[in-house]
Amino acid sequence: LIAATTAVALAACSIGGPGRVATIGEVDLDTPLPVPPLAESTVEPDGTRVFSLEPQAGTTEFAPGVASETWGFDGAYLGPTLVAGRGERVRVDVGNRLEVPTTVHWHGMHLPAEMDGGPHQMIAPGDTWSPEWTVDQRAATLWYHPHPHGETEEHVARGLAGLFLVRDDAEGALPLPREYGVDDLPVIVQDAAFTDEGRRETPPQGFAGRLGDELVVNGVRGAYAEVADELVRLRLLNASTARSYAFGWDDGSPIDLIATDGGLLPASVALERVLLSPGERAEVVVRMAPGERRTLQSVMTPAAAGLQPVVAGMNGATDEFDVLELRAADVLDPSPELPERLVELPPIDTDIAVTRTFDLNGFQINGEQMRSDRIDETVTVGTAERWIVSNPSGMPHSFHVHDVQFRVASVDGAPPPPELAGWKDTVYVGPETEYELILRFDDFADPDTPYMYHCHLLWHEDQGMMGQFAVVEPGQRATMTEETNDHD
Ligand code: C2O
Ligand code: CU
Repeated sequence: LIAATTAVALAACSIGGPGRVATIGEVDLDTPLPVPPLAESTVEPDGTRVFSLEPQAGTTEFAPGVASETWGFDGAYLGPTLVAGRGERVRVDVGNRLEVPTTVHWHGMHLPAEMDGGPHQMIAPGDTWSPEWTVDQRAATLWYHPHPHGETEEHVARGLAGLFLVRDDAEGALPLPREYGVDDLPVIVQDAAFTDEGRRETPPQGFAGRLGDELVVNGVRGAYAEVADELVRLRLLNASTARSYAFGWDDGSPIDLIATDGGLLPASVALERVLLSPGERAEVVVRMAPGERRTLQSVMTPAAAGLQPVVAGMNGATDEFDVLELRAADVLDPSPELPERLVELPPIDTDIAVTRTFDLNGFQINGEQMRSDRIDETVTVGTAERWIVSNPSGMPHSFHVHDVQFRVASVDGAPPPPELAGWKDTVYVGPETEYELILRFDDFADPDTPYMYHCHLLWHEDQGMMGQFAVVEPGQRATMTEETNDHD
């Protein structure tokens, strides 16, 4: 109730400001935060850890007694959290129990293109797809979601999304909270729209895609979490199809960011707000006082989104949401101090084989829509590349690359801010901004199967704001099997 009052007060302050207040999280934060279960697995004699996931239809009560039709993995909404260690061989048996084809993409995972779960790995209803790979990347908060071309927004919006946590020794040696669901909480943030009775309905369509006026966090509206440790880690995932957030604390205290998409930062960064566009993740930590209550909010202003106030639609106006209330117990388990240094980042590659440019404009990249029979870029394995990604339009976009975690070398010609200095697989590309990304492609040459890069505003992606790249051996050409590749 306190949180709701605060939100109303903040909203009142914003009225008459540069933007209109589009949304207020007026939902009471009185529903216990559900924690997605850890996925069960078995280990085969050769050491392979085997998971299974079943996308399926079901119903979810977002309001008591009111059923909404939803989709989930192994349940009606969202999916279990997969956990694997660096160096582990994993297989996931994905059995499609839906009545339509879908795919499961491992967002942020470094793996062979055939295992990637993009639009080329469709799973027919009733079929099982069993990708297998060795996890070889830093500890990170990754996620999985469908990627069927033209249908991704719909499949994710219905509820198909889950987390995949990678653990490694470097992260494991640090005194960080990591007891899943206790002091290490997954926070999967989605927007949605509801009828007055509380039945989920399709949100209105704007130029960014569908924008709901309420939040669903780990599958519930109005979530709070009770914590009993001083230091709490939140793994934030923006699993919304179109909406971006600027997360911060209701009391204005800084939010401590420790990790981005692909892993830990060199040191924690104290920020006023953490900006997350669809698909991005952030790990933050907060030190709680006994009995304290604090609310994670999102206050997205046009300035934070890099938008002119006149641009309406996605975040064109200031919008505010209460995301999650943390309620600390009266007696807390002590937690160690946050270490000053977390991990070392290797220097950004300077030995660049190729520079490519990607223009995000008009639901197209470089003036073209994705064609599944066209390879747009051919990358030589074992090289580093510079990708210049620019958005000359007035519309917000983002840029996600499959297969690799990349580094941001510059934003609009300047060194990246500390929150963009680590490992990323998705960046928000606001109007009239330009990113210089450095990507290294060290393995998985396969001339037959492409990876994707695209805008992660899923409606844009579905419109074809996507391209395909193949990683090949030196001198090799990418083959396209479906039709002749006449683009070159
Ligand atoms: Cu999260 Cu190509 O997607
Ligand atoms: Cu876009």
